[in-house]
Amino acid sequence: MLDKKTVKDVDVSGKRVLVRVDFNVPLQEGSVVDDMRVRAALPTLRYLIDHGARVIIVSHLGRPKGKASPEYSLRPVRRVLQRLLGRNVAFVDDIVGRDAHEAVGRMVDGEILMLENLRFHPGEETNDTGFAEELASLADLFVNDAFGAAHRAHASTTGLAAHLPAYAGLLLAREVKTLSGLIAEPERPFVAILGGSKVSDKFGVIDRLLDTVDILIVGGGMCFTLLVAKGVEVGRSLVEPDWIESAKEMLAKATDNGVELLLPVDFVVAAEIAEDADTSIVGREEIPGDMMGLDIGPTSIELFKGAISSAKTVFWNGPMGVFEMGPFESGTREITKAVARNSRAVSVVGGGDSVAALKKYGLEGRVTFVSTGGGASMRLLEGSSLPGIEALQDR
Ligand code: 3PG
Repeated sequence: MLDKKTVKDVDVSGKRVLVRVDFNVPLQEGSVVDDMRVRAALPTLRYLIDHGARVIIVSHLGRPKGKASPEYSLRPVRRVLQRLLGRNVAFVDDIVGRDAHEAVGRMVDGEILMLENLRFHPGEETNDTGFAEELASLADLFVNDAFGAAHRAHASTTGLAAHLPAYAGLLLAREVKTLSGLIAEPERPFVAILGGSKVSDKFGVIDRLLDTVDILIVGGGMCFTLLVAKGVEVGRSLVEPDWIESAKEMLAKATDNGVELLLPVDFVVAAEIAEDADTSIVGREEIPGDMMGLDIGPTSIELFKGAISSAKTVFWNGPMGVFEMGPFESGTREITKAVARNSRAVSVVGGGDSVAALKKYGLEGRVTFVSTGGGASMRLLEGSSLPGIEALQDR
């Protein structure tokens, strides 16, 4: 649960409200190719407009390293926001300079202004006090709705909160409520599905989930380190040797806690990661020494689908294989469908690749909640505190 005040706990009418959003969206040739994060911010923005605030939007986009670079401009995102809101969004190519102050000075109640990419200023990522003060001088209140950036201690996520009354936005509040609710009070059976390449990235999450879930499914590249820990030979598949001991601890913890840990029993293997690779399907004990497992096999798919269909709560993060390529996409496609098909379950999906898979197979609307946070959702689920949330006013 979120023990912080939200935008609904303060009178915003006539106030200049600086809203930190996470509009770090993918761009191609100057156009936004996925507007999910922009849509996710709409409830807070609409709430503020409807309540007569003067809304100043700030965000980062990409990693321009403290320097203005046109390819990271927020202008294309402003166009998308205008379309989604159906109203004008003013824009200045400035963050804390005279143009920004003048533009804010011209605002009337219910208007929206977007400033340029925060990371064009070197003080953003270094959480520079002077920069945070300058940002704060533009506004009366600070609302943080950038859940996806809440694990970063930057000027616009934590620094600002020292200079302005700081509240959670509606998206941030919903993300925290949904993700912490999964851990605190899931309807059972609770099935978590983890994939992606590295077990090291998700060790903390696996550890915490093993205290809560009934079934943990692990696929993707990360399963091979666990298989090696079980004594299986995995050929040239991705293994993190430094994590084999930790993987053994995970296996032991699953047994101690009575968690059913499901690992793939067969794989699609190939000698190379390529669209035209020669593939075969082998049992997990039979991976040839010169091959890599690049997707889960058909028997694993059936095994995992059975577990998913029995769930009342599902959490999914990370693909089952190299799903961007035709020969290795079946596992991820079938798991995506299985999660979407279980309409009795509360289903929560997080992480860029899983969300991309939902989109690829047109199943985005078929799950209960899609998290906008990659790293942030992992940190929250592993029980770490997120600086961007800690900094907000306590309830
Ligand atoms: C994300 O996309 O995960 C967030 O916007 C954070 O971006 P960052 O990893 O560049 O800080």
